[in-house]
Amino acid sequence: MLAGNSIGKDFRVTSFGESHGKLVGAVVDGCPAGLALSEADFQSELDRRIPLQLKIVSGRIEKDRVEIVSGVFNGFTTGAPISITVENKEADPSDYEAIKDLPRPGHADYPAWFKYRGFNDYRGGGRFSGRVTVALIMAGVVAKKLLSNFGVEVLAYTKAIGTVKMHKTLSAEEIRERRYEAAVRCPEVRCAEEMEEAIVNARKEGDSLGGIIECLALNVQAGIGEPLFDSLDADIAKILMTIPAVKGVEFGAGFKAAELKGSENNDTYRMQHGKVRALTNNAGGILGGLSSGMPLIIRAAVKPTSSIAKEQRTVNLRRMKDAKIRVKGRHDPCVVPKAVPVVESAVAIILADHMIRAGVIPKVLEGWK
Ligand SMILES: Cc1cc2nc3c(=O)[nH]c(=O)nc-3n(C[C@H](O)[C@H](O)[C@H](O)COP(=O)(O)O)c2cc1C
Repeated sequence: MLAGNSIGKDFRVTSFGESHGKLVGAVVDGCPAGLALSEADFQSELDRRIPLQLKIVSGRIEKDRVEIVSGVFNGFTTGAPISITVENKEADPSDYEAIKDLPRPGHADYPAWFKYRGFNDYRGGGRFSGRVTVALIMAGVVAKKLLSNFGVEVLAYTKAIGTVKMHKTLSAEEIRERRYEAAVRCPEVRCAEEMEEAIVNARKEGDSLGGIIECLALNVQAGIGEPLFDSLDADIAKILMTIPAVKGVEFGAGFKAAELKGSENNDTYRMQHGKVRALTNNAGGILGGLSSGMPLIIRAAVKPTSSIAKEQRTVNLRRMKDAKIRVKGRHDPCVVPKAVPVVESAVAIILADHMIRAGVIPKVLEGWK
């Protein structure tokens, strides 16, 4: 895995580490100097990463302790690359020995074996594991702290699990306050109970579920993005598609816009208190690859976890024969709850990058000491 592990131009994030290796880490290069940053900023985010509800998550509960290795001095970022790591302490490779020649249907095992000729670390999915997303979460902590100094907030939450969808549209305040109340990370409490039940039932059947994560970005000023190929929506879609199990991304009305007429889909403008306002937000806050000044509304579709206990057909790569597989070990029956902070972090990373590129965030933050 040589190239392809970095994203962003002026705020550049590099991810490293595997599921069952020594540690997982991120390097953030290009973060402005002068941002107050401590290990406690990361710890609170890592502490709430895994819902402590064993019914709906895998048994691998890593009590992550973050270490800032470089780039912070006297409590402030210095402008040098910031490296942050967490150790893997709960890795258990034993479940993977039995199936190392049997690629799990729906997982990255077969294409990874083909590309790297078996040299890749297959334990726990190696580089393709959800564990690696901790790097995005840690870089996201830096991005979110930077954005908050410029009034921008990013909020992700669970919108649907399988066929159970949120019934109500909640305000940003309600989402902010309640999204971490339920283990499934859905701020509509009654709906969260139904979602949890659906996950528990799928797991009992040896199966799994997917879902939809919605992410809002508030107070993003108009004009952020670098058309054509570094358009804001293009860059957000790219980072979200790197999250394991994310299979679709949409903005605003998204795929539903294809069924609407122009007169229904257009967000018409009015003057309000001397400012241009759109009355609706089918565009999801991005037009022409530039932020429109409306809230960003982004959705990521997450597929059902591929590692399931039900028997499935596969092949034995050593014998080159048909085979059967039942995936044992510690797997999330639904990865959506754990992916919520990952989506939030990913969107924050792209916004931080583009706001620096636009000159809205300066390279040195003055006057905050
Ligand atoms: C936070 C998180 C946790 C995950 N946990 C699991 C898991 O326990 N078992 C599994 O089979 N896949 C899990 N995945 C998904 C796989 O890593 C992913 O499906 C696989 O790498 C193939 O990539 P693709 O689905 O994007 O094509 C997880 C993903 C995320 C984001």
